[in-house]
Amino acid sequence: MTIKTFPENFLWGGAIAANQTEGAWNIGGRGLSNIDLIPHGPNRQDIKLGYKASQLSDTEYYPSHTGIDFYHYYKADIAMLAEMGLKVFRTSISWSRIYPNGDEATPNQAGIDYYTDLFKTCKEHNISLLVTLAHFDIPMGIVEQYNGWKNRETIDLYIKFAETCFENFGAYVDYWIPFNEINVVLHSPFSGGGLYFDENENREALLYQAAHYMLVASAKAVKSCHRITPDAQIGCMIAGGSFYPYSCNPEDVWQSMIDERTNTFFVDVQSKGKYPYYMESLFKSKGIQIDITEHDKEVLKQTVDFVAFSYYASRTSIADITRVEQNEGNIIVSAKNPYLKMSDWGWVVDPLGLRITMNQIYERFEKPLFVVENGLGAKDVIEADGSIQDDYRIDYMQQHIQAMHDGIQDGVPLLGYISWGIIDLVSASTGEMSKRYGMIFVDKDDAGNGTLKRKKKKSFDWYKKVIQQNGIEI
Ligand code: BG6
Repeated sequence: MTIKTFPENFLWGGAIAANQTEGAWNIGGRGLSNIDLIPHGPNRQDIKLGYKASQLSDTEYYPSHTGIDFYHYYKADIAMLAEMGLKVFRTSISWSRIYPNGDEATPNQAGIDYYTDLFKTCKEHNISLLVTLAHFDIPMGIVEQYNGWKNRETIDLYIKFAETCFENFGAYVDYWIPFNEINVVLHSPFSGGGLYFDENENREALLYQAAHYMLVASAKAVKSCHRITPDAQIGCMIAGGSFYPYSCNPEDVWQSMIDERTNTFFVDVQSKGKYPYYMESLFKSKGIQIDITEHDKEVLKQTVDFVAFSYYASRTSIADITRVEQNEGNIIVSAKNPYLKMSDWGWVVDPLGLRITMNQIYERFEKPLFVVENGLGAKDVIEADGSIQDDYRIDYMQQHIQAMHDGIQDGVPLLGYISWGIIDLVSASTGEMSKRYGMIFVDKDDAGNGTLKRKKKKSFDWYKKVIQQNGIEI
């Protein structure tokens, strides 16, 4: 047996997000958020994707309202993560807990107190913090009264929120990310940015407009972060995963290039400080005109300190997708890759794809990278003796960590690896609890029933050992 070790100070971590865990949706002065209107069940997709507006209804179940009640369980949960030896904890701040409607003159003190205590608790356990400002989260007040990210004014509301966070939590947070998977707004507009569209609106044009305002907001947040909390680092984040051409047919290769650009142009802007050359012709070809001012171009020159990405699967591009079987993967629809196996939820499993993605992203942007999400959504079974033998999860992580090690050997600078959903939480795509990622089990089912009791899975001790020895055994 040998141990593949990682660089000294490598940040082994675990992630959750406010919208999928906190619950307490109307407690502590929190305002209504877009996530609170996304039900579990048949209406979920249309609402999430912005095809229909949502109103709270007594006949729907909204998983975010209760989450895993992290709002009340955080002290015990963080203690378990400390026992695991976690170096960095990633979570997000619920925007409507800080500014309930989004446009108040002063923040909600109860929200500030809550996060102060959460972050302090992590520090008391010697756990560093990576915090996402907006993880699929925007106050409904901004959506309803300002049209959300369709409106330039939302930039200022967001910056007020961001600066409040930097001022109040800067003493605790080591790494910041302005938006979780910023590219997802193009694919899942309501969950990604609180956007929905009328039939007569030009959906695509508005999506790129919203993306632009988010990019400007992100650049301003980077500047504010450097000014207010200069010891922290602030990055950007996309839902990663390279696009492979389905075949060597040049049409497929070209399609993979287009798909890759749609995904990574965000990082181009955030890490190089300007729109890449191909976006102008893309907007032209689609007949889209975007409101980009000279001042915006100046603001965008502010670049990030690191590039973060989530990695669950690679994607496969084909010129004519109707010719082949499709695969939905993580939000982005692509062709089914015949060489790869899939998870129970149809996400392809491709460890080598992580090494490929790392290399491609680094080659293109030349900033330190951070894998801030990776993991396997699977059904867990409680054995007669009460244990959960999640060897499939260990196997998945072992393979991905190995691929990541190879990527580091290739020369890619990597700050750390953060496993997604380290405590079981509500699935963003399906709203299920049964799609579990955690190394800590939470007793709750898809309908919201359960004791919420936490329990270690087999992977808990396995990951603890990985962290302890700063590497994997092979
Ligand atoms: C990422 C998101 O896209 O994937 C998370 O940042 C999400 O919020 C994760 O939970 C896994 O996706 P899902 O749909 O299985 O929860």
